Parts: sequence; C-alpha cells; structure tokens
Amino acid sequence: MTQPDGPHKERSPLIELRKLRVEFHPHGRSGGALVAVNEASLVVAEGETLAVVGESGSGKSTMARAIVGTVPVAGGEIRLAGRSIAGLKGRQLLEMRRAIQMVFQDPYSSMDPTMRLAEIVGEPLRVHSRLGRKQRLSEVERLLEVVGLSAADARKYPYEFSGGQRQRIAIARAVILEPSVLICDEALSALDVTTQNQILALFVDLRERLKIAMIFIAHDLSVVRHFADRVAVMYLGRIVEHGPVERVFNAPMHPYTKALLNSVPVPHPTRQRERRQMRTTIEGELPSPMDRASGCVFRSRCPVAIEQCADGSPPDVTVEGGGAAACLLVGPHRPGSRAEDDGEL
Ligand SMILES: Nc1ncnc2c1ncn2[C@@H]1O[C@H](COP(=O)(O)OP(=O)(O)OP(=O)(O)O)[C@@H](O)[C@H]1O
Ligand SMILES: [Mg+2]
Repeated sequence: MTQPDGPHKERSPLIELRKLRVEFHPHGRSGGALVAVNEASLVVAEGETLAVVGESGSGKSTMARAIVGTVPVAGGEIRLAGRSIAGLKGRQLLEMRRAIQMVFQDPYSSMDPTMRLAEIVGEPLRVHSRLGRKQRLSEVERLLEVVGLSAADARKYPYEFSGGQRQRIAIARAVILEPSVLICDEALSALDVTTQNQILALFVDLRERLKIAMIFIAHDLSVVRHFADRVAVMYLGRIVEHGPVERVFNAPMHPYTKALLNSVPVPHPTRQRERRQMRTTIEGELPSPMDRASGCVFRSRCPVAIEQCADGSPPDVTVEGGGAAACLLVGPHRPGSRAEDDGEL
C-alpha cells in the first residue's frame, strides 16, 4: 500500500490544504491570537490515507474542523478536487458537505439524544438523497450491521449504547453517503482491539471500493503504521514532517518526530536500548500557542537546537525516501555540516 511520497502527483489530489491558518481569540479580538493551525499544507489523493499525529494541543482537530467548515479559516486555502471550497454556496456547498464527512473524538456530543438511530444515522440521507422513509430505514439497518451493530438497533436511542458502540453509530452515519473524503478524529481510540480491527476493515473496504481519501488523526502509532500510506507530524500548529509511513517510521528526520516515535515501546530489545542511548525523548510542556517565540516552533524543547534555530521558521527540506522535514539540521545545507556526516542527529 505504501508508495513513494508522490502518488498524489500522479493521482488527482482530492483534498489539498495550502498554508492553512486557523486562529482563535480567547480574550476577544483585541487580545492576542492563538494560532492553532499555522501554514499547514498537505495533499491527500483518491484512495489514500494520510495519518496526522502529534501531541495533545498540536492543532489536529482544529485542522480537521476547518476542513469540514466548523471553524473559520484565517488564511490559506482548502481545495476539494481542485476547487477552493471557500465561498461555495447553495447546491455546491451542500455537495461539498456531502463529499467530506467526519467522525469526531466525542461522538455523543454530535447526536441528538431524543432521536432514534434510524433518524440519526439516516439524517444525511434525508438531507442529501431522495430516498423515502422505508428505503432510508433499510439503508440504515444495512450500515448498522456493517459497523457491527444490529438492524434492530435502529429503533433505539443513543443512551442505550456504550461509548464504543456510539462511535460505531457515528461511523455508520459518516459513511452512509459514501463520501469521497472521510476524516477520523481519534475515532478508534475508545474502542477495544477487536472492534478497532472491524472498523479498520470497513475503512479498508471503503478505501478500495470507493477510492475514499482518509485523514486519520490518531495517537496509536502502531495503527497508523499499518493503516496509513503517509503521515504528517504536527507540532504547535505546524506540520513539521511528512512522508510515506515506512520512511517516517524507519528514518524520521525531524527531532520532534524522533522523540514522538521514541515514546512508543518497541518489541525489539536492541532497538529499545539504542533508543535509550539516543535520549531523544521530549522534555517539558508544549508551549502556549498564544506566546510564539521567533524561529522554529520546537526549538524550546529540541535536544539539538542551535542558535540559528531562533532566526526564522525553518523551510521544508525534501527527504530521501519521500516527504520533507522542516528542520535546519536536516539536509546537505545544514549549518556546520560535513561531507562524512550522514545527517543523523
Ligand atoms: N474553540 C476554541 N477556542 C479557543 N482555543 C481553541 C479552540 N479549539 C482549540 N483551541 C486551541 O487550539 C489548540 C489546538 O487544539 P486542538 O484541539 O486542535 O489540538 P489537538 O491536536 O486536536 O489535541 P488533542 O490530541 O488533545 O485532541 C490548543 O491550544 C487548543 O487549546
Ligand atoms: Mg483533537
């Protein structure tokens, strides 16, 4: 499944972010801006899965919400199938909403507790299709079975289900219209491993059958490794590294990616020892996105930062094997680099 970091260049990019910026103003317009997403650019092709990883508060959910239009965009652009989605109105807006579906971290908050599953899961069909009540119900029943619930559950209310079951309900609702882009924000985190595997199998089927593009936000890096084609690593609103999953996991370039991967237990004792020797775990707290220091966003916690890291945002450096990393210490032009140095930090 994994390909060089460029299949999107041949396949048509389905969803594309160009220097996306999202700001919040927690203290009003006159107070400082909290930049939750800062110049994030990415491309996801048809049938491709991009995982987005990064610690809590790095802006993953905010980026997803900007794509589905539930937080305002302060700068940059979001494109769907080559068209900017800003300024879409009427029928085109409705079609875009249909094409991009999202499963949230907390599915219960997006469900009306007074509605039965038949209405909750069938709602997108009511809005976007011409199916009658009976046809909608049979479609809902089919989808409930696909996600591992039963057709009879269509008559029940959300409170009658566990957290994991509600997540399956949210997934059924998100995929009932067979969207072209599915965004999953920690959608599997609350599920047991068996259910996770069932849902992943459902996603694989959708991906292959419908060429659905997925943005898969996840904490569980082992799931990311096996399920995604490419990965984007976020830190304090910025995408600091991206690339094909195998390249990023086997040869991470950005110090933050290295530290993030170091926090995952590895079964191999020698590699575990090597990692401990590298000592690239992340120390300290994520800085506040309100007070932005100059230079690289990771510099205050970076174990290998140098003076020049304060000078400005490091540019994306293309990495052998695919993708890029935004770090001054990556690539042939890094300060103080020597020919015999192989570029490892
Ligand atoms: N509605 C909001 N108003 C103000 N600030 C917000 C709002 N939503 C998010 N933020 C801030 O934006 C930043 C990014 O938050 P976001 O929820 O996108 O992070 P995340 O990467 O999804 O984290 P997690 O892994 O915990 O879900 C955080 O500093 C957060 O406090
Ligand atoms: Mg989140």
